[in-house]
Amino acid sequence: MRTTAIFSYKGGVGKTTTAINLAAELAARGQLVVLIDADGQCNATDFFEARDESGTVYELLTCPGADASVAYYLGTTGRENLLIVPSSDELATVELRAVEQDGGRLNLTALRGFCEALAEDGETDFVIIDCPPSFAPQTVAALVAADDVIVPVTPDNWSMSGLRDLTISLNGARRANPRLRVAGVLLTKKDASAVARDTERALRESGWPVLDATIRASSHPSRCSFSRQTLREAARRSGIAADYRELCDEYMEGCYHGENQ
Ligand SMILES: Nc1ncnc2c1ncn2[C@@H]1O[C@H](COP(=O)(O)OP(=O)(O)O)[C@@H](O)[C@H]1O
Ligand SMILES: [Mg+2]
Repeated sequence: MRTTAIFSYKGGVGKTTTAINLAAELAARGQLVVLIDADGQCNATDFFEARDESGTVYELLTCPGADASVAYYLGTTGRENLLIVPSSDELATVELRAVEQDGGRLNLTALRGFCEALAEDGETDFVIIDCPPSFAPQTVAALVAADDVIVPVTPDNWSMSGLRDLTISLNGARRANPRLRVAGVLLTKKDASAVARDTERALRESGWPVLDATIRASSHPSRCSFSRQTLREAARRSGIAADYRELCDEYMEGCYHGENQ
């Protein structure tokens, strides 16, 4: 089993779009995938209409020692091979709880424990964790649980400074999870502009592992967020659906090897 967190400090860079469509593509290829929605904005949860159906990430983080089975947290998505641990509005409050005197009794190893239990069951192939755009407690919990991170960035001047901040967070998370790797930086919303070209060049010269696959700018993700269809369902023949297939190929190839930092 491989666990991948989709994380960046910036909102709107395509984290949720990537989590949903990479998870859906893996599932369509016969892999059993669990998507964990660790963002209090609940975008992935609402996309799959998965509220109130199962236990949530909030419950996992706030009920240390709760004796619920793994199955209690697994909601359905209406898609074969794809299950979801949903988010909930209250997840946005864990940042407040974290500053309470006793840390609000947050269990930052809860997602790791959950993933270990999934691995022991032996059925799940991939866990994809959609993170919020900050180093919130649920992001820490995700990075403590993950084998690797995919970092979506959009073409602009701030993407490189975002990566510098990321180094600090990753090093922090590695104190609890030394095996954490960067699967790759993923350039999203790529268009034909000079800015996109310059950003891509700067990324590839930066020393960060950058995925060969890039995701083009497209109106499909926005439309799909309304229709609640994945790109392969709504726009199978589009360029951006092909980009996500390429990402999936590369992601699966890099499955159990890779020399990334
Ligand atoms: N490749 C893309 N091209 C154009 N718009 C995109 C692309 N990927 C995502 N979007 C749109 O950008 C917005 C933010 O995407 P989202 O995946 O929610 O980002 P994040 O989770 O990082 O905040 C959404 O409106 C989404 O539909
Ligand atoms: Mg998101």
